[in-house]
Amino acid sequence: MRGVVVTVLVTGGRGHVARAVVDRLLAVGQKVRVASRKPEEAVLPAGVEVVKADLSDPDTLPGLLDGVSKVFLYADPKGIDGFVAAAEVSGSPHIVVLSASGVEEGDPATDPIVRMHRAAESALRASRLSWTFLRPGTFSTNTLQWAHAIRGTRVVKAPFPNAHASAIHESDIADIAVLAMTEPGHEGKAYPLSGPESVTQREQVECISEAIGRKVVLEEITAEEYRDALGRWGDAEVVDTLVRHLVEADGRPAPVLTTYQDLTGEPGRTYADWTADHADDFR
Ligand SMILES: NC(=O)c1ccc[n+]([C@@H]2O[C@H](COP(=O)([O-])OP(=O)(O)OC[C@H]3O[C@@H](n4cnc5c(N)ncnc54)[C@H](OP(=O)(O)O)[C@@H]3O)[C@@H](O)[C@H]2O)c1
Repeated sequence: MRGVVVTVLVTGGRGHVARAVVDRLLAVGQKVRVASRKPEEAVLPAGVEVVKADLSDPDTLPGLLDGVSKVFLYADPKGIDGFVAAAEVSGSPHIVVLSASGVEEGDPATDPIVRMHRAAESALRASRLSWTFLRPGTFSTNTLQWAHAIRGTRVVKAPFPNAHASAIHESDIADIAVLAMTEPGHEGKAYPLSGPESVTQREQVECISEAIGRKVVLEEITAEEYRDALGRWGDAEVVDTLVRHLVEADGRPAPVLTTYQDLTGEPGRTYADWTADHADDFR
């Protein structure tokens, strides 16, 4: 498929991974249509067609898939059946789904993140569409939650400073998404993805300090204090799941997977690489 120009639909145009996917698709000469619920807020390069669409609202689907051969899809189960049905009648594009690690072994009864990704994967498996599932673990972008505090006081309040994650750069996920959309042989495959090393929260804060050239302090708070802080904006079940994951990761190196290197021949980007790319977010 590389070299053949097709229209690729990228959903969730304001998302971190979606933006990185758009840049890579343009770099390899693909025609890109971006769908966003708020296209006016999507900061996109010239040459990209932007369409206002909400995949959970079937009224916004007609026309969205016209001429589309490939789709980068966020795994939001709301509206997935309508989206799949629309795709099946519009030329059956290949769908690359941003899913998540734990989708098979996690418990959907207690973990809403597993539930959401499993529902989206199941809808694709039950369809006539070809698909590729990307199953990354913890995103490096999660630490953007510290950006406001670092810009203000340079103090990060976090529980479990020794909790590990093999945090993945959104560009690594985007590289694999674009590979799956532009090369043959990725249909029906599920790719577990991680960053190339396991780093603790304390080490992540040290990397940010290094990247911005200023001392950032990690001040340990209790799980309860963290739960209270998250509870102000988060759904209770999601907050419980996030806290549980931190407890499980405390002092335990996270698995490092070789999928990225196996598929690209390159080592994945480290968390230090990510902080260098995002230093301005923390300044
Ligand atoms: N965070 C993790 O550690 C992790 C790990 C594995 C899997 N995942 C999965 O990855 C997905 C999240 O990916 P992501 O980090 O690329 O998503 P993101 O940056 O959080 O954006 C997700 C979507 O939210 C919408 N959105 C709403 N308000 C926004 C705003 N102010 N700025 C930007 N986007 C906004 C955008 O869609 P519209 O433009 O249509 O509004 C966007 O595509 C989720 O499905 C998650 O479950 C996450």
